[in-house]
Amino acid sequence: MHIPVLLKEVIEYLDPKPNENYIDCTLSEGGHAKEILKRTAPNGKVLGIEVDKDIFEKISNEGIERLIPINDSYVNLKEIIKQNGFNNVSGILFDLGMSSWHIDESEKGFSFQKDEPLIMNYGKGEITAEQIVNEFNEREIETIIREYGEENFSKRIAKKIVEERKRTKIKTTQQLVEIIRQAVPGWYTHAKPHFATRTFQALRIRVNQELDNVSLALPQALEALDKGGRLVAISFHSLEDRIVKEFLREKERSNELKILTKKPIVPMVDETISNPRARSSKLRAAIKI
Ligand SMILES: C[S@@+](CC[C@H](N)C(=O)[O-])C[C@H]1O[C@@H](n2cnc3c(N)ncnc32)[C@H](O)[C@@H]1O
Repeated sequence: MHIPVLLKEVIEYLDPKPNENYIDCTLSEGGHAKEILKRTAPNGKVLGIEVDKDIFEKISNEGIERLIPINDSYVNLKEIIKQNGFNNVSGILFDLGMSSWHIDESEKGFSFQKDEPLIMNYGKGEITAEQIVNEFNEREIETIIREYGEENFSKRIAKKIVEERKRTKIKTTQQLVEIIRQAVPGWYTHAKPHFATRTFQALRIRVNQELDNVSLALPQALEALDKGGRLVAISFHSLEDRIVKEFLREKERSNELKILTKKPIVPMVDETISNPRARSSKLRAAIKI
């Protein structure tokens, strides 16, 4: 089951009121959107964007009143807003990355704890993780794992991947986990987080162009907001958080935004216990001036 991360804090910073309109750029199963809708009754709407077709179908089928679900990428935010004639936007939310559904049910290879095909894409049109590990050259693979995974053993892992794929095509998550295990030092296989975490994160970010997407969407979000409208972004790793932080600072310097969170908001201990996915989350918020 998907439990929305930092729900209380999202509501506090978005501060939704009756009849206001909001955009949820990462709708998923609507955890945050449903809470916003409760507070914007009777006439406020939420434009909810979800790139993953399977999740989109699930949430659309719920037929939630005043929710306008859109199956697209938030990278097309400006166009989506235009096509839907969605105006007077009081707040925009980004809750970045994957949802629990991707790990628990998608069977697309997001989890190193399962044995699934190496797909890892949310939407349509992207490459798959299988293509990266079997077709990219060693240097490209090394760069992806180092830059997007911040993995110290990226070189050794990339070398082993290229060595192993000469013998047999790498098709499943468990083949990849085994390759990583063989590539890294013994102590690393007992350390925390799990030794495959960083490589899996790196592949997922590259497959879905996650960092580029955030960089391209934030300026569109700022443009779409009404004056006094609020921008809230939750990130789950330092690379994403840096993009959000730098964007907000730049726009504060140019007097377009006022930052509401001098330091990022992190979950309370209770939340990290009841929802382990929340553990690495950081929320940043700003108001358009
Ligand atoms: C962390 S979940 C959001 C959870 C949601 N806030 C909730 O509480 O139910 C992130 C969602 O964003 C979707 N997503 C990822 N990249 C996207 C993109 N470029 N455009 C739209 N949705 C995207 C993922 O498929 C995933 O369902």
